[in-house]
Amino acid sequence: MPTTTGMKGGGYYDANSKEQRSASDAFLPWLEEAIAALPAPDSNQQSWNFLDIGSSEGANAIHAMKHLIETVRRQSDLPVWALFDDLPTNDFNQLFLNLFPASSPRLSATNVYIAAIGGSAFGRLVPPQSLHLATTFNAIGFFETRPAAKLPHFILPMQPNPHAPREGVEVSASELIPFQNQAHQDLCHFYTARADELVSGGKLLVQIFGRNETHSTGHGLMDVLSDALLDFVEADMLPRSFYESFVFPAYYRDIEELIAPIRNKPELAAAYRIEHADSRDVPVPFNTAFATTNDRETWAHSYTSFLRAFSEPVLAAALPDELLKGNIIEKLYQRMERLLMDHPQRYEFHFISIATLLTRV
Ligand SMILES: C[S@@+](CC[C@H](N)C(=O)[O-])C[C@H]1O[C@@H](n2cnc3c(N)ncnc32)[C@H](O)[C@@H]1O
Repeated sequence: MPTTTGMKGGGYYDANSKEQRSASDAFLPWLEEAIAALPAPDSNQQSWNFLDIGSSEGANAIHAMKHLIETVRRQSDLPVWALFDDLPTNDFNQLFLNLFPASSPRLSATNVYIAAIGGSAFGRLVPPQSLHLATTFNAIGFFETRPAAKLPHFILPMQPNPHAPREGVEVSASELIPFQNQAHQDLCHFYTARADELVSGGKLLVQIFGRNETHSTGHGLMDVLSDALLDFVEADMLPRSFYESFVFPAYYRDIEELIAPIRNKPELAAAYRIEHADSRDVPVPFNTAFATTNDRETWAHSYTSFLRAFSEPVLAAALPDELLKGNIIEKLYQRMERLLMDHPQRYEFHFISIATLLTRV
């Protein structure tokens, strides 16, 4: 079973994901270069076939896809299939509303054909050797399935942030192993599926939230979520057993972990050539605004909304029904916003965007 049902829908994710857009924009220049080097579609295909995986409600995914289509149009007028995938539980209605806005020209007005696919990134999504370009942004850090292992003293499979210590919050190196193994296996499944789907010479751009030597994208945001949950445990508003069993189902990789399957698995090493692999500490729009305005309230609100857009569906699925009826979700995010307002330094946030560009050989 997938570990998330998707993002908070009804336009909420779109309205609160400028940070993810900044993280993917950082790597669009690689794609421009990649598109210039794509092999021309063969005579059976007669179209360019582009797939984005984990597109959510679409505002960011369509922004990237438009950019890729503009780039390919510099070299070819062939029709384009613009395919958008996400889990079947995603808000696809919002994706289609974004794809067919009432007021502006449609993507489809320029010989572009659109389809959405419901399916997991870790399995096959399209027929063999049919794709010229596959992209995924901010998506495959979510585990394919939840590892059975426990993590009783923190909510994320990662060493807790040394700059936000709290008594009792800890993760041992051995506790991390099952999660590291799962993250590695997930990537192997992902790369294997794409190797089947890409034409020879096709390109794959994989971008996700990750970590570098100094920062993790999980720092700050998972600390404030953990602190809010622990405050509720200490106030008897949440059973401690909930905190002990809750694991946010995401893994924040470093760049070595991202390319390890290609380096170490012979069948993947034979399937791909690594063109680029890099990590960037990208601009975070709510931090940029804070630096100019010094307006803590707005910063805390934007930070909370950004966190809520991807964490609420996970929390809502894990919390017991009787607590959900008592509106605990609203109260938890209010608590997080308060904590952020009171302790901005403790929850300093960096978006470490990691990516690799691969060619299917
Ligand atoms: C943070 S959003 C990213 C959306 C968009 N790509 C962006 O960069 O703004 C993550 C998306 O990945 C999707 N996702 C998570 N696990 C997935 C899986 N196994 N297969 C496909 N999509 C998945 C979620 O449903 C969600 O819509």
